[in-house]
Amino acid sequence: MLETINLKKVFKKNTAVSDVNLYMEKGESVGLLGPNGAGKSTAISMISSLIKPTAGDVTWHGKSVVKDPNVIRMHLGVVPQEIALYKELTAMENLRFFGRIYGLKGKALEKQILKVLEIVGLTERKDELVKHYSGGMQRRINIAVALLHEPDFIIMDEPTVGIDPQSRNYILEMVQQLNQEKGMTVLYTSHYMEEVERLCDRIYIMDHGKIIAAGTKQELTSILSSEESILIELDRPYPALITELEQIEGVLRVIETEKGIKLITPKNSRLLGSIFQAAERQQAQIVSLNVQIPTLEDVFLHLTGRKLRD
Ligand SMILES: Nc1ncnc2c1ncn2[C@@H]1O[C@H](COP(=O)(O)OP(=O)(O)OP(=O)(O)O)[C@@H](O)[C@H]1O
Ligand SMILES: [Mg+2]
Repeated sequence: MLETINLKKVFKKNTAVSDVNLYMEKGESVGLLGPNGAGKSTAISMISSLIKPTAGDVTWHGKSVVKDPNVIRMHLGVVPQEIALYKELTAMENLRFFGRIYGLKGKALEKQILKVLEIVGLTERKDELVKHYSGGMQRRINIAVALLHEPDFIIMDEPTVGIDPQSRNYILEMVQQLNQEKGMTVLYTSHYMEEVERLCDRIYIMDHGKIIAAGTKQELTSILSSEESILIELDRPYPALITELEQIEGVLRVIETEKGIKLITPKNSRLLGSIFQAAERQQAQIVSLNVQIPTLEDVFLHLTGRKLRD
């Protein structure tokens, strides 16, 4: 349905996106995961025909979006990273304004507005000024705007950044419903791997403008299927323990975490004995210990040597 072919964008000397090849089938929910500055928003802007690629192409059902943006525009709803609403107007007035831009009017427009307000759960508050809304509610109206013309494909650019947990959860559930119950195709960008894990059938991991891995969650984590991580929660930090753990034969990496230490080891490496001994030598109090199979975060760390959110 949608395909990008060697998509590239250069801003002056900065290559924001290079050689991005991705595809989406109808009804799929696809995640674009990457840290700040990875090129996610730039890629999305090219897919949605807001900016022109320096090279490459985007096709919608085989037709070039770069040559003719109209082939995709009416099918696509975009929720931009920055909230784009008139704060001095009510939610209802904003929806009317944007609805008219899409060519909706009269009864059809009013009907659509009530429908999208219901989807984002803000029917009761529709006549309040947007500036009196919380960040999470503004986000939800932003999503409502993107749904007004009943697109069958929606792109959401980090829709949960900087909002309260309740709104975040509401948005995640809503995206899931749109995808699973209404069959809407979704492209969802985030740097929260747990969101992408929850929402998406397939995932592209992007870094420095390039796609560095792609596949289902299972496929991606199987990159690391030969590894497992051991999470050790400690009562306080023990810097000397880190050094000691690094010296245990077989330990691949030692990472300091918020609550303690994470060890990456080969699968079934039987290192628990040595770990306990090291902790005892350092008189470190182990609060809990967990052996985990790899997460997408681990895959990212493995591929780039960095965390998703550094
Ligand atoms: N209009 C622009 N002019 C110049 N450089 C730009 C422009 N837009 C983006 N960039 C640069 O392109 C790179 C990729 O930015 P982009 O916004 O696509 O990243 P992102 O993955 O969306 O990051 P974030 O998670 O922070 O939103 C960055 O180095 C950024 O500074
Ligand atoms: Mg962005």
